[in-house]
Amino acid sequence: MASVAIDGPAGAGKSTIAKRVAKELDYIYVDTGALYRAIAYALLKERVDIEDEGALIAACRQMTVEIRYEDGVQQVYLNGENVTPYLRDEETGNMASKSSAKAPVRDALLDLQRNMAKQHDVVMDGRDIGTNVLPDAEVKIYLTASPKERANRRYKELIAKGEVADLDKIEADIIERDERDMNRAIAPLKQAEDAALIDSSDMGIEEVVERILSVVREKLL
Ligand code: DC
Repeated sequence: MASVAIDGPAGAGKSTIAKRVAKELDYIYVDTGALYRAIAYALLKERVDIEDEGALIAACRQMTVEIRYEDGVQQVYLNGENVTPYLRDEETGNMASKSSAKAPVRDALLDLQRNMAKQHDVVMDGRDIGTNVLPDAEVKIYLTASPKERANRRYKELIAKGEVADLDKIEADIIERDERDMNRAIAPLKQAEDAALIDSSDMGIEEVVERILSVVREKLL
């Protein structure tokens, strides 16, 4: 089985790009952020105090998170229920950023991610895939873009959906999320030594996909 690991900060376009790359290669796309979001969703719903280690460990032990594919699209099941539609809002994202810094949460998801890569050819995106989850991945990409550009993209996305958006607040949130994801003690977001760095600030989607496929060709084919 072969693995393509795509890591990088929030809003760098990882999921759009990773989905496209997976399609081109006929690999399975694994969105690991959705797994952290599923746990965050449960923690919010059950009002678990994530600073209370005993409570967090107990909550994580009670949860089962599974990945299934329906019409080729990843669905995340939490305790047997498909929670995929509830994972994308800002509250869940912010909780995921906080709770994913905690060891019980990361431990709960490690085997699931590794098993996916054992069983399938995968394009897996996240924060610590190349550094921690799949250190032997054949291809590693670190995909980033400036906070300003990432905020701009997110702003346009929200406006297109008809939602109200404040560009400065979005940029401040992105910077805060980067800080947290990059400076946590366990499995922080960082570029693996053997990862190819792609800064997509001035690149279109097609260009980034092509660049990644050229790295894949070089390493795998
Ligand atoms: O990619 P995303 O925005 O869906 O991820 C939500 C949060 O989950 C992110 O702020 C950090 C965490 N995360 C992580 O710690 N490790 C991963 N492999 C993926 C996501």
